[in-house]
Amino acid sequence: MKTEEMKKQNRRTVMVIFGATGDLTHKKLMPALYNLLKRDLLPEDFHVIAVGRQEKTSESYRQEISQSIADNIYGELKPELFGALAEKTVYHRQDFSEDAGYTKLKEIIGEDADVMYYLAVAPQAFEVIIGKLGEHGMQAHDSGFRRVVIEKPFGADLKTAEYLNEKINAVFPEKDIYRIDHYLGKEMLQNIIILRFANAIFEPIWNKNYIDNIQITSSEDIGVGSRGGYYEHSGALRDMLQNHLLQLLSLTVMEPPRSLSEDDIRIEKLKVLRSLNDRLDSIETVRGQYGAGEINGKTIAAYRDQEKVDAESDVETFVATKMYLNTGRWQGVPIYIRTGKALKEKTTEVVIELKETPYSHYFPDQTLKPNLLVIKIQPEEGMVVRFCAKSPGALNQVVPVGMDFCQNCQTGVNSPEAYERLLHDVMRGDATLFTRWEEVEASWIFADRIKAEWDKQKPDFPNYAPGSWGPKAADELLRKDGRRWWVSQTGEI
Ligand code: BG6
Repeated sequence: MKTEEMKKQNRRTVMVIFGATGDLTHKKLMPALYNLLKRDLLPEDFHVIAVGRQEKTSESYRQEISQSIADNIYGELKPELFGALAEKTVYHRQDFSEDAGYTKLKEIIGEDADVMYYLAVAPQAFEVIIGKLGEHGMQAHDSGFRRVVIEKPFGADLKTAEYLNEKINAVFPEKDIYRIDHYLGKEMLQNIIILRFANAIFEPIWNKNYIDNIQITSSEDIGVGSRGGYYEHSGALRDMLQNHLLQLLSLTVMEPPRSLSEDDIRIEKLKVLRSLNDRLDSIETVRGQYGAGEINGKTIAAYRDQEKVDAESDVETFVATKMYLNTGRWQGVPIYIRTGKALKEKTTEVVIELKETPYSHYFPDQTLKPNLLVIKIQPEEGMVVRFCAKSPGALNQVVPVGMDFCQNCQTGVNSPEAYERLLHDVMRGDATLFTRWEEVEASWIFADRIKAEWDKQKPDFPNYAPGSWGPKAADELLRKDGRRWWVSQTGEI
């Protein structure tokens, strides 16, 4: 549904946030709602019911969120705008398993309304909340929608994800389940489709005939911090690769969809994940865990010394993989992905390395640098095309030059945050940027296989220094193939 249509309907729309006092609500959801209001993208009759277990009044809750919105938006908080959001926000205290709380909640929601339930809670609470919504008939409606938005992690492996899915499906139909992968809300992920399919300079070369390899780097320059309790059950494989990075890969390599409709894109993304699973036996991996050290002058404790982390933890804070897709388009093209905490830079980018031309013999004394297409997801958003040119003056001296398109470099350009786009899509009923069950299932098959291989051998952790690019073995993974990792942030491209 278009925004104008949604607004014109002027229906009462209620967003119920379970986990209202948590980090996600404070840092992402509330700032996103504020920005949506600022951009006039919320329904006219919009309300937030913030559900939490702590004792608070609506007034004290509003004060807390005013601070977190101010801390997490670009620019100054405008008091009148915040006032308009605060006025529509009430705090409701309840335990997630307590029936009386749901009876009251149902009353506050009211009769004739569109409702989205947002589960910004620890995964252990998903089942009980969904179950209670079902028992209290809060998924049922005569008019208006009832949608449920679920944060990751969706299960901890295929088995637990299947179990959770069954529980949710028993209450909500698949079309009303919105599984969030916030990477899909990032501007440049959506831009990949445009770059690939709206440009005659890129579309014809997007295959094994021209592309030598594909690389994805998603690195963070901070450690696990206070999230050790969660991270001990996840690790880099399940925290980043199983979801965000496989989604990013799918968009990068999928076949042209029949149209840009939700269904057509999902079909193509799913084919990528399944064809990846057809080649599970060819996956090579490197895992790592950071020790103590420094990142950009700041001291950081070893992962094992982090709060709520086992002193002998074998959980990986870094993973690199090499894999192939079982499709004609990508036959023989290696795909390398790496992600980790406490690395040199915060960056996410896709690098497409092109093959050599058949004319390198024209330049017998020089090693030509390969052509690269870099899709910069964050913190800079844009694209770099690196190609060869003659060095001015020098006789046939070839140098790499870059054309750099930076979408968010100019001041004043402020791309909407991923959560703004995603919340707006849930309200409009557009699930294109959410993951469907089959994709979750295929991604877990992939991750489970890697985990099963790892479980056969104890790793030698810690094995990389903070502020580096991870374990040496991750560089070796490419070096043995005569390749190397590229990353534009460091100015090497
Ligand atoms: C989350 C992970 O899903 O994504 C975090 O749980 C990670 O561990 C975060 O830090 C990275 O998101 P972004 O948008 O900062 O790249």
